[in-house]
Amino acid sequence: MRLIIDTDTAGDDCFSLLLAMRTPGVALEAVTVCVGNVAFEQQVENALATIEAAGRSGQVPVYPGARHPLVKPWVPAAMHGEDGMSGAGLPPARQRPEAMHAVDAIIERVMAAPGEIDILAQAPLTNIALAVRKEPRLARATRHLWIMGGTDNSVGNITPTAEYNFFIDPEAARIVFEAGFRITLSTWTLTLKSSAFSAGQLAGLDALATPLSDFYRKVSATPRRVARERYGVEMVTHPDTLTCACAIDESLILESRDAVVRIECAGEITRGFSAIHPPKLGSRWPAYSANARIIETASNERFFAMMQAVLG
Ligand code: BDR
Ligand code: CA
Repeated sequence: MRLIIDTDTAGDDCFSLLLAMRTPGVALEAVTVCVGNVAFEQQVENALATIEAAGRSGQVPVYPGARHPLVKPWVPAAMHGEDGMSGAGLPPARQRPEAMHAVDAIIERVMAAPGEIDILAQAPLTNIALAVRKEPRLARATRHLWIMGGTDNSVGNITPTAEYNFFIDPEAARIVFEAGFRITLSTWTLTLKSSAFSAGQLAGLDALATPLSDFYRKVSATPRRVARERYGVEMVTHPDTLTCACAIDESLILESRDAVVRIECAGEITRGFSAIHPPKLGSRWPAYSANARIIETASNERFFAMMQAVLG
């Protein structure tokens, strides 16, 4: 599988990069960085540090992209600590970012191999929207677009109704969902249902005692502490990493449905809300075309086994 990952590199974004870099049969051809979780230059450094930790320095190019959402100002995510890495204090990376802009890198690489490259979008969709506006043929030339974002039950994580990636740049998300990509959507609802590692699973990863399990333990320390203090549970969720796992091995997807995804850009209470509904809503409404497959349930056990293999 040939893959480009578009990322706002912090916390679980990094584990997704590790999974892609260290799973046999996956060629991670580029990492493109987009406005999101933490300060932009920090995200670029986090991507480079993750590549270093995976032992792939110099082998996966990192392209900085959009530093701002299309319309409204950026808001950081609170979950990953100021550096996005739970203050892990990783050694500085030897590799440096590329000069080419992420948007041009995505277009150049996908258009050079139409139908061959998957994109995993695990950040606000600003880079992908700019790319498809600049090169509309990108939508059909991309083999498959895997998106982490939105909610499948209206319960968000940055506002009561919106998930972070879509809230930060709903205008971009709307462009992407209307562009004609073949899309699979992995929502925050799925994250809560299928991606969390329990206390027992986390102990199993700790017990691996390898450099990469140490990386995982350090980088996930802040969300783990927040879950413990706020909810009284020992757990870590993996919105981006589970999406990556499903992209790499679709048999992890246990239940899914085709649906219409529309993004609210204007709502006072619902900005960034993902309206997900069936194509046909009865006789009172026009029929819509489904524009995404929604993952409803994925195998937590098999996802954990993949991570165990990668970190071990
Ligand atoms: C998404 O927002 C970010 O904080 C995470 O990296 C993930 O992509 C979850 O809502
Ligand atoms: Ca992310």
